[in-house]
Amino acid sequence: MPRLAYVDGQIIPLASASVPVEDRGLQFADSVYEVCAVLNGRLLDWPLHLARLGRNLGELSIAAPMADAALSLVAKRLIAANRVTEALLYIQVSRGTAKRDHGFPSARAPTLVMTVRPFDFAQRVAQQSKGVAVISVADQRWGRCDIKTTGLLANVLAKQEARDAGAFEAWLVRDDGTVTEGGSTNTWIVDAGTIVTHPQSPHILPGVMRAAVIEAAVAAGIPLVERPFSLDEARGANEAFITSTTVPVLPVIRIDGHAIGGGKPGSIAALLAKAIWNRIATQTGYRP
Ligand SMILES: Cc1ncc(COP(=O)(O)O)c(C=O)c1O
Repeated sequence: MPRLAYVDGQIIPLASASVPVEDRGLQFADSVYEVCAVLNGRLLDWPLHLARLGRNLGELSIAAPMADAALSLVAKRLIAANRVTEALLYIQVSRGTAKRDHGFPSARAPTLVMTVRPFDFAQRVAQQSKGVAVISVADQRWGRCDIKTTGLLANVLAKQEARDAGAFEAWLVRDDGTVTEGGSTNTWIVDAGTIVTHPQSPHILPGVMRAAVIEAAVAAGIPLVERPFSLDEARGANEAFITSTTVPVLPVIRIDGHAIGGGKPGSIAALLAKAIWNRIATQTGYRP
């Protein structure tokens, strides 16, 4: 597989792809990003990723590097050039390169970078039937977690803590005891047959997979409420699970060592996982 990247207008070998030292993404995390699933060579939920990217750029007054149609073309060209069918497309847009100074530079010349890396989605099937363990850690992030910026240090530290503890994910807990989301996933519990997830707010990222799961739950007629839930509530829940582009509905069977739902994946998570694999098959033709 060739491993090619896109950097500001050119498709070049990943190994030699770079941005200038004074790129604002590098020096200030003044940049936003997207991670999109490529299955069977096709992008999953691409319009939702484009819409979120556009919103995030707007929230930070970063100029769009190009129109959506052109971005789509570049993304598809890069995927094809990498000759890969199951992969993750990474897109990053920074405010551009300028002399280091906190305020915005006067020229609006954003830097667009894209990479593609192979990703085995089928590995998730086995994980879905086994479930994973998570730990809880303090949510130390800033007040605009709804914007997908590359300022991910608190997430990096939380996920490393999970890794060191042998857990799959870290659940982020605010001072008031509520769980916002995971280090790179949205978090869910099932309480007496009702699915509960944190509402869209500045404290969580509006996940593309989150939107897909809400759609699936509504279509299946499963009661769902968007409200904050506490870590204590999660520990006593019948089921818990996490979602993201790379983790389509993964049951959580342990939180901080406490077994959830008797330590086995639950039936609602299984039903939603099936619905998401169907959504994937409908959009892309991919079946694990
Ligand atoms: C903090 C955080 N929450 C939630 C998600 C899930 O978002 P999506 O479903 O769009 O992948 C991510 C994805 O990386 C994330 O980083």
